[in-house]
Amino acid sequence: MQNKLSEIKQKAVEAIQASTDLKTLDDVRISILGKKGELTSVLRGMKDLSNEERPLVGKMANEVRSEIEEALEQAKEVIARKQREIQLKKEVIDITLPAKKVELGHRHPMSIVLDDIKDIFIGMGYSIAEGPEIENAYYNFDALNIPEEHPAKDEQDTFYINEDMMLRTATSPVQVHVMENSKPPIRIIAPGRVFRSDEVDATHSPVFHQIEGLVIDKNITMGDLKGALEVFIKELYGDSVKAKFRPHFFPFTEPSAEMDISCVMCGGEGCKVCKGTGWIEILGCGMVHPRVLEMSGIDPNEYSGFAFGMGLERITMLRYGIEDLRLFYENDIRFLKQF
Ligand code: DAH
Repeated sequence: MQNKLSEIKQKAVEAIQASTDLKTLDDVRISILGKKGELTSVLRGMKDLSNEERPLVGKMANEVRSEIEEALEQAKEVIARKQREIQLKKEVIDITLPAKKVELGHRHPMSIVLDDIKDIFIGMGYSIAEGPEIENAYYNFDALNIPEEHPAKDEQDTFYINEDMMLRTATSPVQVHVMENSKPPIRIIAPGRVFRSDEVDATHSPVFHQIEGLVIDKNITMGDLKGALEVFIKELYGDSVKAKFRPHFFPFTEPSAEMDISCVMCGGEGCKVCKGTGWIEILGCGMVHPRVLEMSGIDPNEYSGFAFGMGLERITMLRYGIEDLRLFYENDIRFLKQF
């Protein structure tokens, strides 16, 4: 019995040392210590021993078992360590290799210019207003004094959603929301997306951006309008830029005007951009029509105001000398990087 036990131990230790992976090691454990293992069956035979022999053999069997268990434990550690070393070697990182270059995104030129425009008007005491992109005929047309037969109402120009609802064709309806929801003095600009069913070309897009302005208070005059817009264009394009106002017609303002600025490309000499005239039209404006004030609940006998509206694409193109509006929507990083 004793010989049998040391034989088992001998064999076990050899098998354990020969194991190079955890699976083999576990198989060895099962073949010796498992239910049907060699040591287990020897222990089962102990009941046939004499009373004197049994404690001796029992003690020895326990020693053999714990020695084998210890050998298993040690072998397990050795194998685990070896496997970790192999793994680490495989995963080694050469930190001296050059890193992958991360291309950062870029602010869009229209975002840059819009932020500048907001800063300029906020500096003059304006706040920023917003309105919905989907409007009904009242806000988009009627409340702005746009008559029934006006060509802007034509389905050719406007994206209708149903009889009454449409994508707004200008930011001007925001004026109406602001007047309905606040009391004068009012001083806001409202930037946003507008929609017209235009073909895409170098200067048109069915989706584009406008910035609306509205000022209402007691005793507001055309002089306030000219002053505010002159400060604005000098801040935006530089002190040497000149402005002039040409009479024009808009249903929601009376009198109405268009503002031209001296060509920012040629300084007024005459070039391709200003078509040789030295001047460029950049916005529409005027004194808010008394009927428009009245419809939105503001007493035209007590208050007056001015409004203006401009296209952000155009303002940005002039700022950077960009000749094709489609570049704004292509998101080509080589274009965006330049601003
Ligand atoms: N709504 C006009 C357009 O889309 C722009 C405009 C002109 C807005 C004159 C105004 C204004 O507020 O007073 O062409």
